[in-house]
Amino acid sequence: MAKQAQATWGGRFSAGPAELMLRFSESVSFDRRLAPFDIQGSKAHSAMLAKVGLISQKERDAIHRGLDAIGREIAAGQFTWHTKFEDVHMNIEQALTRRVPAAAKLHTARSRNDQVATDMRLYFKAACAEIIGHITAAQRAILKVAEKNRDVLIPGYTHLQRAQPVFLAHHLFAYLEMLARDAERFATVADHANWCPLGSGAIAGTTLPIDREFTAKLLGFVDEAGRPRATRNSMGAVSDRDTYIEFAAACALAGVHFSRIAEDLILWASHEFKFVDLPDAFCTGSSLMPQKKNPDSLELLRGKSARLQGNLHTLLVLVKGLPLTYNRDLQEDKPPVFDSHDQTVLCLQVLAGTIAGLKMNRAKCATAVADPALLATDLADYLVRRGVAFREAHHAVGAVVRLAEEKKVALDRLTLAEVRTVHPGFARDWVESFHLQKAMARRQGTGMPGPAQVALQFKRWAKLLG
Ligand code: ARG
Repeated sequence: MAKQAQATWGGRFSAGPAELMLRFSESVSFDRRLAPFDIQGSKAHSAMLAKVGLISQKERDAIHRGLDAIGREIAAGQFTWHTKFEDVHMNIEQALTRRVPAAAKLHTARSRNDQVATDMRLYFKAACAEIIGHITAAQRAILKVAEKNRDVLIPGYTHLQRAQPVFLAHHLFAYLEMLARDAERFATVADHANWCPLGSGAIAGTTLPIDREFTAKLLGFVDEAGRPRATRNSMGAVSDRDTYIEFAAACALAGVHFSRIAEDLILWASHEFKFVDLPDAFCTGSSLMPQKKNPDSLELLRGKSARLQGNLHTLLVLVKGLPLTYNRDLQEDKPPVFDSHDQTVLCLQVLAGTIAGLKMNRAKCATAVADPALLATDLADYLVRRGVAFREAHHAVGAVVRLAEEKKVALDRLTLAEVRTVHPGFARDWVESFHLQKAMARRQGTGMPGPAQVALQFKRWAKLLG
């Protein structure tokens, strides 16, 4: 039974694989998601075979009709997948063989090694485009929160200690920058995937007169000028898994970004900060403590980032010791890639959903940002404007901070006489350094959190995100 099942390569075998071996070696349970790309690849390949005269036009058309029908069945969930046929490629070829006699010619000048490499490159281009779309959606959700809270100021933190005041929007725009870098990375991965391996055969091409450039063009593996991009080394083409690793790395790094954003929001939502209220729809309660509203979506974003890093590591280790060219180990490249893809999309959707439902607690933000200590650096800058060297100014303001602590008053409640005991550079207007709006307005340089710069960034992001 098993021998017949494996008609595709069973010729030299007298017995079929053990049941256990079939279960162990099958990949159709996960690589069936490549079906649309496999069909696309087979249609292009057979079109090329017809073009060079290796099959007739009639045979090509019959193959195309059969593949289209199979594609429709798969899309409708009516296709029966067989473990005994191992993978998506054999399942589709076997199904085609049952309907179309010409299917026996489809695998001319092709191996599963260049076939799977081609499927995966088509897949990566689609996956990257999909993820970039979700990144844009998450960015739009972030921009909306920034727009709704344009005037909100919060403390910025270093070492998780209050540092300097920033517009909330400025903080959120740092997230937009992170995600923009992620989108760029996925665009690069898609570009690296944009080479056609088909025609590389199992390892060393074929003796038959195929036209690789024709196939590459049909499949959209072209440069900006529309010139076909066919891989340039048949051994490299069937053994290369760089794109898989780059894709997983892009997902892992995006996951690190999700995790850092999540951590900010978890802190901001804690009672200790209370800058933000999280949407009920993305939180859960405690089975024991009735008062709890836990930031589960954000904690899971943090947790999933570990998984995304794990997938990257799996791929690196998988490939590391393999001799050229194809080895069956490489079948294990797909589960981590697919998982990274799915989890990245989910994370982006959850991030967008959670952020879309954020409610800023303006009063808490205002109280926190009113802390005059946040403007201690501005006070040093004040002395600098009055001709004091920065190191000296820094030291003087440090002493002023200590003085305020000793006197148990806020920094801006000291008297002029008191601060002049620390440094003679302080004049009557020293206390104006604590005027928050004026302090913000002084931060005018490119990329700074002053209102004019933030307004520029609002314009830029609104334009970029449409
Ligand atoms: N399912 C296989 C994989 O994903 C396809 C390639 C099989 N090639 C082979 N020589 N057995 O790697």
